[in-house]
Amino acid sequence: MKTLNVDIKDVLSTVSREQISNLDASAAEALDKVLTGTGEGNDFLGWVNLPTETTEAHLDDIISCAEELRASCDTVVAIGIGGSYLGAKAVIEALSDSFAAYRPGVEGEPKVLFAGQNIGEDYLYELQDYLKDKRFGIIVISKSGTTTEPAIAFRLLKEQLERQLGLDEARKRIVAITDEKRGALRTLATEEGYKTFVIADNVGGRFSVLTPVGLLPIAVAGFDIRALIDGAAEMEKATNNADEANPSLLYAATRNALYQAGKKIEILVNYNPKLHYFAEWWKQLYGESEGKTHKGIFPAAVDNSTDLHSMGQWIQDGERTIFETVISVAEQKYEKLIPTDEANLDGLNYIAGKHIDEVNKMAELGTRLAHIDGGVPNILITLPAIQEKYLGQLIYFFEKACGISGYMLGVNPFNQPGVEDYKRNMFALLAKPGYEKETEAIKARL
Ligand code: PA5
Repeated sequence: MKTLNVDIKDVLSTVSREQISNLDASAAEALDKVLTGTGEGNDFLGWVNLPTETTEAHLDDIISCAEELRASCDTVVAIGIGGSYLGAKAVIEALSDSFAAYRPGVEGEPKVLFAGQNIGEDYLYELQDYLKDKRFGIIVISKSGTTTEPAIAFRLLKEQLERQLGLDEARKRIVAITDEKRGALRTLATEEGYKTFVIADNVGGRFSVLTPVGLLPIAVAGFDIRALIDGAAEMEKATNNADEANPSLLYAATRNALYQAGKKIEILVNYNPKLHYFAEWWKQLYGESEGKTHKGIFPAAVDNSTDLHSMGQWIQDGERTIFETVISVAEQKYEKLIPTDEANLDGLNYIAGKHIDEVNKMAELGTRLAHIDGGVPNILITLPAIQEKYLGQLIYFFEKACGISGYMLGVNPFNQPGVEDYKRNMFALLAKPGYEKETEAIKARL
């Protein structure tokens, strides 16, 4: 079975095997909390057994809904933010043709666009302008049903769809993914008769990519969600024991040892532009899970080799508070060789005939070695290829490691109390009913 691999040998000049092994007991205890639900936030552990418990009937339901949208729409807008956005965006970007957005539409292959992940007036204006002659559909995703950003986008697009198609047709092209019973979106979906999927109470937003939240948009984009779940299920089984073969345990213990050694920033590094949004998903997963009570590794990311020409100097030579986790993709989907050029003015003939990926891999290896020499420890994760199954493995690997790592750090990895502060201020500034006192107080500060 091909599977992702975690190699920590290049952290050993910063932390010894002994320092990492010293955390074995703490890592095993944290894993036990995740598996037995005996830690803080244990009402949000629904993701732990999700891959192996996902039924064929559930996947059939999602796939048949996706097929209906694919048949009736040339564009499907997935509306959501944070955990209700990043997982689907990450997987779709990783698996899509890099120029899909610029290619003409193909019957039965709708373009999946995203909204509700920002409050950009121009973004929404331009999106609506783009959609004005499109046969579009909407997947509206919000666990709470009241998040401001997706609510604004949905209000606009729902009205546009009803205007363009009429109320009855519009209702057939809107799918809501939300709480089973509570919330504004559930109420609206019931009133309007939308097709719905449930986000279980015990799965938090940033752990929800393997629920309909991620699976439906991914299936609409034409990707194999069965393979994604299969990969995640393999990783679920591979991460259940407190032994050396558990890659999530190894990663969690290593990053905590590095943190204790003063490495406060983790940079997730990729050498494949298709993984840009995967890093965005990872940043939310770790940032929202661990950044609490003034603790936590700061999750950052770079896309190499692009960012070697912008952030490379800092990483090589700046403050030594960082470590890197490199995602290396073993096999590429296509082949492209570097051509020979008789004039050779660019001096590239020495690599003529080589695969582009061979050059990329040497950039990767050369950079890793330079960074290790420069005092930046490296964790290396090798992914066999960018395919659904391996992305499923990678997603689950990081989720399990995140739960373990958060407990090792001594925080509740499954809440996000800090996210409420900006909302309170924004509502006060917008004079939302119910926030009168806060409005008065914040205005006095301005
Ligand atoms: O991880 C989380 O819980 C958050 O990022 C939420 O997913 C995000 O705020 C969106 O919330 P909702 O799905 O309720 O609209």
